[in-house]
Amino acid sequence: MQNPRTRTKPRYGGIYIMKRILNIETVKYSGKEIEVAGWVNSIRSHGNILFVDLRDRSGLLQIIFTPKEESLYKLAQKLRPEWVIRVKGKIGRRPSGMVNPKVATGGIELQSTDLEIFSQAKTLPFPIDTPGYEISEEKRLKYRYLDLRRERMSKNLKVRHKVMQLMRDFLTEEGFVEIETPILTKSTPEGARDFLVPSRLQPGKFYALPQSPQQYKQMLQVAGIEKYFQIARALRDEDPRADRQAEHTQLDIEMSFVSQEEILDLTERLYLNVVRKLFPQKRITKIPFPRITYKKAMEKYGTDKPDLRRNKKDSDELAFVFITDFPMFEWKKGDKKWGAMHHPFTLPQTDDIKKIKADPGKILAFQYDFVLNGYEIGGGSLRTTNLDVFTAVFEVLGHKKQELKKQFRHYFEAFSYGVPPHGGIAPGIDRFLAVALKEANIREVIAFPKTGDNRDLMLDVPSDITDEQLKELHIKTTKKK
Ligand code: AMO
Repeated sequence: MQNPRTRTKPRYGGIYIMKRILNIETVKYSGKEIEVAGWVNSIRSHGNILFVDLRDRSGLLQIIFTPKEESLYKLAQKLRPEWVIRVKGKIGRRPSGMVNPKVATGGIELQSTDLEIFSQAKTLPFPIDTPGYEISEEKRLKYRYLDLRRERMSKNLKVRHKVMQLMRDFLTEEGFVEIETPILTKSTPEGARDFLVPSRLQPGKFYALPQSPQQYKQMLQVAGIEKYFQIARALRDEDPRADRQAEHTQLDIEMSFVSQEEILDLTERLYLNVVRKLFPQKRITKIPFPRITYKKAMEKYGTDKPDLRRNKKDSDELAFVFITDFPMFEWKKGDKKWGAMHHPFTLPQTDDIKKIKADPGKILAFQYDFVLNGYEIGGGSLRTTNLDVFTAVFEVLGHKKQELKKQFRHYFEAFSYGVPPHGGIAPGIDRFLAVALKEANIREVIAFPKTGDNRDLMLDVPSDITDEQLKELHIKTTKKK
């Protein structure tokens, strides 16, 4: 190992910078002089020895200050929790009675020879050495950068990263290409309200933020990509709930020349891979994942999201299930019209247009949901490529043929240039993580989620904009009474 001393850099702040060593790495430097940096996690004094636990992204390290070096000791006595410091010193073994086997660096300690204080810290608004569930949502989200210092939250973010990385690797290995699609786009009827963005250059016109990349991923099949995926943000103006945020992340997938079973099989292999590699302690209730029709699920369990765990008290049990053969349409009592159960691009299980129009309630679709422990963690379908069926479906939904051809011109045009049969799925990453990490709210697995009323308390969003900005966007606002 290279001696860190040889990497001394010019003077910066109070002490000479050597290569900074992570706390977890210090075990390899017994007897050597090194430098560490991080946050003061806790301070204790025993007699006249000062013990400081230093925290960095890798864990904790015990540092010792003794009165032998008077000025250093005096400076160290000023330290308070969460101050950011850099310490130089020698790594030594702890006396045998002082070894802490619970901490990775519990057998060693740093005998300090120099200390620099980068930044002092006010008293935190809440403790960060607990899981944090007892603290109010408002406080945790306002000071999210502090909330994320707690071990549980930083672990959740790291697991999230690993899950996404594994999904990327798995799909890349299977021949998929990750392609980004626009955020400024047109409304896609996924069933929620759109977030709209006014256009400055096209006065009076609006972009919609994507409720999903649905239309683009279908256009990519016409483009011949065949195997697309994207870890995509999807935005829906809905009232947040424990399993719902205005912004969520989907593992968006679309494939050409595939059967429904091939899509389910790919999804199953992907999730088995994720669970086996990243959550080896979990027990999966049934492999292959059961496939149950919507009709059977409703008859047997009274829900299309059944929780099929054998033992609901066993928190490490994962019961995956695919629910298939959903009805194409559902009657919306409030609006007194038909709505699409999934979205209108879904392929009905008949191409008999007369039947589709005459009795929409009886038509099934090639649509499936992916369910885990009672949560819908994904949804998808095969898509309609026959433009007569496409038109019939939209007519049932109340669209006039002419306006439909205008609104979905790209479908009518694209599909007239050679369209492969295609289909896909979009597992919701936040919901899967919440279940796998045993979190009751998807907020706990998202770095910067919104509150129950869709605000970001840390940045104070949504916020006012200036009159000039409004004018530039050709927008007049009226005050809500
Ligand atoms: P769907 O609307 O079913 O399908 O969404 C896919 C999955 O995304 C998750 N999800 C959410 N998670 C958190 N907060 C939300 N507000 C939220 N909304 C959805 C769910 C859901 O199963 N374009 C289609 C996919 C396709 O057909 O390929 C779509 O978006 O886990």
